Amino acid sequence: MTNQSILNKGQQYVMNTYSRFPIALVRGSGSSVWDADGNEYLDFLGGIAVCVLGHCDPGLQAALNQQTAQLWHVSNLYWIQPQVELAEKLVKLSGLGKAFFCNSGAEANEAALKLARKYHYRQDQPQRNQFIVFNDSFHGRTLATVTATGQKKYQEGFAPLPAGFVYADYNSLESVRRLINEETAAIMLEPVQGEGGIHPARSEFLTEIRQLCDREGILLIFDEVQSGIGRCGTFFAYQSYGIKPDIVTLAKGLGGGFPIGAMLASDQAADGFAPGDHASTFGGTPLATAVANYVTETVSSPHFLEEVQSRGAYLRQRLNSLTDTRIIEVRGMGLMLGIEFDREVRDLVEICMNLGLLLIGAGPQVLRFVPPLNITTAEIDQALAILQAALKEWQ
Ligand SMILES: Cc1ncc(COP(=O)(O)O)c(C=O)c1O
Repeated sequence: MTNQSILNKGQQYVMNTYSRFPIALVRGSGSSVWDADGNEYLDFLGGIAVCVLGHCDPGLQAALNQQTAQLWHVSNLYWIQPQVELAEKLVKLSGLGKAFFCNSGAEANEAALKLARKYHYRQDQPQRNQFIVFNDSFHGRTLATVTATGQKKYQEGFAPLPAGFVYADYNSLESVRRLINEETAAIMLEPVQGEGGIHPARSEFLTEIRQLCDREGILLIFDEVQSGIGRCGTFFAYQSYGIKPDIVTLAKGLGGGFPIGAMLASDQAADGFAPGDHASTFGGTPLATAVANYVTETVSSPHFLEEVQSRGAYLRQRLNSLTDTRIIEVRGMGLMLGIEFDREVRDLVEICMNLGLLLIGAGPQVLRFVPPLNITTAEIDQALAILQAALKEWQ
């Protein structure tokens, strides 16, 4: 089939929820993908910060293949060996106490919100059921997580939204303080806002929020669905801030392309859940967790993370050296970087694609760079050459 024939059938049979580019990707290897017409692209969006080891990594394939021959699914009525092993790894890496597994970022955040409410309920404080979330955040598309998402465009037409969410300004401690009261259950935020435009939290902001939560008995939830799994140069982005949340959520990169989500919580917060309180049929299957074990082991090695830091610094330096007058700022952490322009970038993304470089926006005016974490400096140079050519074409 060709790009055009796949597109035609897609428009007829697939629900119209995505604004898609007019190509169908049919094969991938490392940091490259190919479309149905045989065109090659350098992939600097990695399935939107998912393919942390690139496409069809041989180690990932081996982990999946080995598990496909052993056991696919049994349900959480039984203990699942690779799930338990993954829980141990993530708990030790995070400094938290227990793991819950699900299938996506939205589900992980949904679990975190439910846990926070149930925790206070079990502490005989059922009135503590409100969440402080942030403008320009993104937490998912279920009704609760789209409500937690502080962007009106995602909520329009879905009213009535669940109650109990109030919105503060990111990086403004004062706006958080104004919203805290005896009904606050948790503060939820992304250490680096992704979809909202690649905005890293200021260090003092996170430190002071942590202190505020400790003082007031409020749970701190970090959504590391995009910033986690080595993306920012440490396994969890919060590790470079020197503080720890009570609950953290993961998805995207955790399976390197295989769907899996996780919520990790301190032992104390995790006590909010008892058997029957929360569940997922496909949460932490043998297949998903076998793959995620391989990703976690690979990405958490100190050498791998040092490489992410140095590749991130190199990409950032190359982006900073662009001289285009339409650039306002380059920002981000590790290999989660963005260039803010003084205008919308949709056309620029399309020009890059036509020249063989896949990128994505983060909000209307920010060009986002979330390539595979094992991207090479030669591939970064190649991407920059394409980007420079695209900027010349972009009127
Ligand atoms: C920070 C953050 N949280 C949650 C989500 C939702 O994840 P999913 O699409 O897997 O539900 C995303 C997706 O972009 C995200 O970036």
